Amino acid sequence: MHCLGLKSFNKNQVESILEKAVYFKNTKNYTKSLQDAIVVNMFFENSTRTKTSFEIAALKLGARVVNFDYTKSSLQKGENWIDTITNLNAMHPDFFVIRHSYSGFAYYISQFTQANVINAGDGTNEHPSQALLDLMTMYEHKKDIENLKVCIIGDIVNSRVARSHMYLAKMLDWDLSFYGPNTFLPQNIDIKIEKDLKQAISNKDFVILLRIQLERKSGVNIPSLGEYNKFFGIKEPIGAYIMHPGPVNRDVELDSTVYIDRNVLITKQVENGVFVRMAIFDFCISN
Ligand code: CP
Repeated sequence: MHCLGLKSFNKNQVESILEKAVYFKNTKNYTKSLQDAIVVNMFFENSTRTKTSFEIAALKLGARVVNFDYTKSSLQKGENWIDTITNLNAMHPDFFVIRHSYSGFAYYISQFTQANVINAGDGTNEHPSQALLDLMTMYEHKKDIENLKVCIIGDIVNSRVARSHMYLAKMLDWDLSFYGPNTFLPQNIDIKIEKDLKQAISNKDFVILLRIQLERKSGVNIPSLGEYNKFFGIKEPIGAYIMHPGPVNRDVELDSTVYIDRNVLITKQVENGVFVRMAIFDFCISN
């Protein structure tokens, strides 16, 4: 089974991945369900957390990992996507883990392979493994995943993380709201927009900060990073837990002095990423 986005997942499936991730975190002696499987990591955008943790997750489950380097591939000689995937598919890998700046790219690749395809972030569409590792971190801190009060602050219109969270919010009856400069807020969607920063952070279980995605030209939508920090940055600890998918633009969305506060869960999110990605591999191979 593919894992292309949470849009196509139901609550039972999400709960089963979460349960397995918690099991992997708490148990040393688990079955190596990917023994001898071949995982091809294809990252066409830079990544620290997602690429490394998918690789570690695969290795922990007994798989072997091939890191496809597109800069040294025949794509550089003009080979097209379909021929590239068709040729890689002919080598019979078990998984493609794909990140690309094009929305829908993982789905597109899935049409040309028998391997399981996992979306590791496609353009502004979805980042399902990030939302699931966020969910695991929320579960650890609230002992519940339903009816949570969550506000997402930042570059929402460009955020694949926010989009995956919107599907979780609907599925799990969250009270979800957004906050940010008008130029960062999606239009015509049925999500509450907070009036100001004070309201955005008050009476919330979790506040998720998003990075201004300079590689997607988000910088042109605000006067300056300093201006953004002045009106939308978190400068002191707040009542809610603070999360961030990373990488953090320090002193833009989150001040360095707050980064180390005990209610900031960023490193815990990264830790849980390995277990959630193990659970995603396991889910795909067994469904
Ligand atoms: N959260 C996230 O996707 O981080 P990376 O870009 O480092 O993988």
